[in-house]
Amino acid sequence: MQSAAVATDFEQDNPLIAGLERLPVRPTALVIFGATGDLSHRKLLPALYNLAHEGALPERFELIGVSRSEFSHDEFRNEARESIERFSRRRPDQNVLNGLLGEMRYLPGSFDSDEVYGEIGKTLREFDERASEPLNRVFYLSTAPQFFPVIASKLGDAGLSECERAETRIVIEKPFGYDLASAQQLNAQVLEVFDESQVFRIDHYLGKETVQNLMALRFANALFEPVWNRNFIDHVQITAAEDIGIGGRAGYYEGAGALRDLVQNHMMQLLALLTMEPPSSFDADRVRDEKLKVLEAIVPPSPGDVAAMTVRAQYGPGTVGGKRVTGYLEEEGVDPHSRTETYAALKLHVSNWRWAGVPVYLRTGKQLARKVTEIVVTLKPVPHLAFKNIGSVGVQPNQIILTVQPDEGVSVSLGAKIPGATMRIRPVNMEFRYGTSFLSESPEAYERLILDAMRGDATLFTRGDEIIALWAIIDPILQAWKADTTSPIPQYAAGSAGPAEADALLDGDRRWRRL
Ligand code: BG6
Repeated sequence: MQSAAVATDFEQDNPLIAGLERLPVRPTALVIFGATGDLSHRKLLPALYNLAHEGALPERFELIGVSRSEFSHDEFRNEARESIERFSRRRPDQNVLNGLLGEMRYLPGSFDSDEVYGEIGKTLREFDERASEPLNRVFYLSTAPQFFPVIASKLGDAGLSECERAETRIVIEKPFGYDLASAQQLNAQVLEVFDESQVFRIDHYLGKETVQNLMALRFANALFEPVWNRNFIDHVQITAAEDIGIGGRAGYYEGAGALRDLVQNHMMQLLALLTMEPPSSFDADRVRDEKLKVLEAIVPPSPGDVAAMTVRAQYGPGTVGGKRVTGYLEEEGVDPHSRTETYAALKLHVSNWRWAGVPVYLRTGKQLARKVTEIVVTLKPVPHLAFKNIGSVGVQPNQIILTVQPDEGVSVSLGAKIPGATMRIRPVNMEFRYGTSFLSESPEAYERLILDAMRGDATLFTRGDEIIALWAIIDPILQAWKADTTSPIPQYAAGSAGPAEADALLDGDRRWRRL
């Protein structure tokens, strides 16, 4: 691993192209449902701008925004421009921006009105005529989840779920379902209209460079795979800590909670990529077959085990980043008697030959001490310590730490001799940091995912059977928590490392890594 900002021989011989290379994409029309919503403004439109900036959009690219607000084309274009200027990772170039927004259409209307779909169809046909060829169609559902089945079925009714001589795809944002039963129902509703190969279920963590690097680390290096099993690994910790509260999202968050919001999707995806078997190829279905297999090997806790294998908690008042913040129960829009968790910790087991007996601990929470998403793989201690009594105090089991964000990178802790006349040892870190090794900013997750959906590459999207396997693990916990209406919900001070109760989840002398 090298982190110095100097070009290696490889870089000199093969100038690295960071960012999204210009992969050919067929002419495409992208229709965003919920185009005036928060996600569209903060993530989707800025991602589209950055794709345009890099020349990564198809040469012929048409954009339609659909939402309930009564805007004219121009009013919407102005809104989109403002959002891009505010949220884009690079300062927009006005020519590129004009090119992207100049022709953008906006169609106001309710998602259940046939008229809207008639208008969408008419506009898409106009694009096809202008291009003298049918454009691929991507419908992006960035709406409240209750509209997902409505939009899918209306697209089907309007004859928009397929197109002769061009591909039609549907991208569905999270949350995909609310529990196991609703996810099964939503899957069935969507698959009544679209074929699985047309459906792209988003989990934006899969679009993050560092999450994809997990696969590179495991499958492009001979170093790690031999120890990647129960013989060498003591336990795994996956942390997704946030230093923000629920913002203005009480309406959504009250019904979701930390388990649905982060564990069921993002954290379980990290777990799947970390523990899956090497796929025979990086073909979308080969990768997803392996993820599915490992998810199915995770035994969902039985109702009787939930108390011993999980912890839920809520943030109380405290100080985060030097600022006083209120507790969850005092947040605007939150029921003062709410039992919704803002923190969740779990102990899971992957029951297969590779992982049997290796506990995997997950924790996530809002208003914690700092924002960090990381995976820590702790190896077993060395079998025999020859330095006993003469300096083994600092000998710690090796850890492989994958930091997803911030300070993206990988570090490996090693025991090293402290310089001096005696044999004393302490842990040191061997580090690779994205920032210094690649000297370029990584694309945002949504840039990669939008591009992949347009290219029809589903590797970084969740397949229908996978989403069901994910819910099957989480559902028993949701049900047990729902059934328990009396035990007090532990509180943790905002700005802290979480509730003390989470420490008891770790067996033996294992400790959570410091936040
Ligand atoms: C979203 C959750 O899916 O992920 C949010 O709904 C959370 O509550 C966010 O804050 C975290 O994403 P990121 O990319 O900031 O780690």
